Amino acid sequence: MKEILTKDGSFTLKSEKYDECYHSSEGAYTESLYKHVLPGFKAAEQFDFYGGEIRILDICFGLGYNTLTAILHKPENVKLKIFSPELDADLLKSLKSFKYPDEFKTLLNIINEISENLYYKSDDIEIEVFVGDAREYIKRLSNIHIVYQDAFSPKVNQELWTFEYFTDISNILNESGIITTYSVATPVRCSFYKLGMNIYTHPYENIRKGTIASFAELPFVKVDFEEKLKRVKCKTY
Ligand SMILES: C[S@@+](CC[C@H](N)C(=O)[O-])C[C@H]1O[C@@H](n2cnc3c(N)ncnc32)[C@H](O)[C@@H]1O
Repeated sequence: MKEILTKDGSFTLKSEKYDECYHSSEGAYTESLYKHVLPGFKAAEQFDFYGGEIRILDICFGLGYNTLTAILHKPENVKLKIFSPELDADLLKSLKSFKYPDEFKTLLNIINEISENLYYKSDDIEIEVFVGDAREYIKRLSNIHIVYQDAFSPKVNQELWTFEYFTDISNILNESGIITTYSVATPVRCSFYKLGMNIYTHPYENIRKGTIASFAELPFVKVDFEEKLKRVKCKTY
């Protein structure tokens, strides 16, 4: 795979198999922070950090930016339990030598543990990486508070964007939980809408909008999806 330097100075990879980059050119670290991690923790704060232990599903681990950025920005006095599936075992093994941004310098021991053992545990952080298909893995989980939905695009990785897949996700999501994704595709939002979820975008101006979905009312910019449906059909993948 080819290393790509993104606009914020962090590196990502381009996958030959999917012919897509792991992150947008806006910045691998910036994208993780603003599209996933900050909205997730902002929602968690509304619900008193779910009693002090936040259960995160990171779809999929890839280079681990979302998991690592979440650890770096973990709210004080909160425990994180992170579950993350990943098909590519060779990629996980290679992470020890990936050129991560300076922000992750303090996390090198965690990166090494994950790369070697697919597991890490400290007093306030536990990470489990599952090698295999996310669609099977999610069926074993329950009571998830935050889902980072960060597969490759629906065009090349459609199995992780179908209505059936999002139905399975909604079944393991806590009633106050949220899904964050970079995708603004109408069929993705239609899945959330059909599942009875509210649709929001993040409030940050420095990066392209994504989608936030939740059964709960959240302090984000709400998308009037019913207005949109006056003009387009609600078709899912
Ligand atoms: C866009 S990348 C993830 C980027 C990642 N969040 C990061 O920060 O680097 C998508 C990842 O999903 C993995 N993947 C694709 N389909 C999968 C599936 N069905 N089950 C598990 N992993 C899958 C790919 O191998 C790839 O590593």
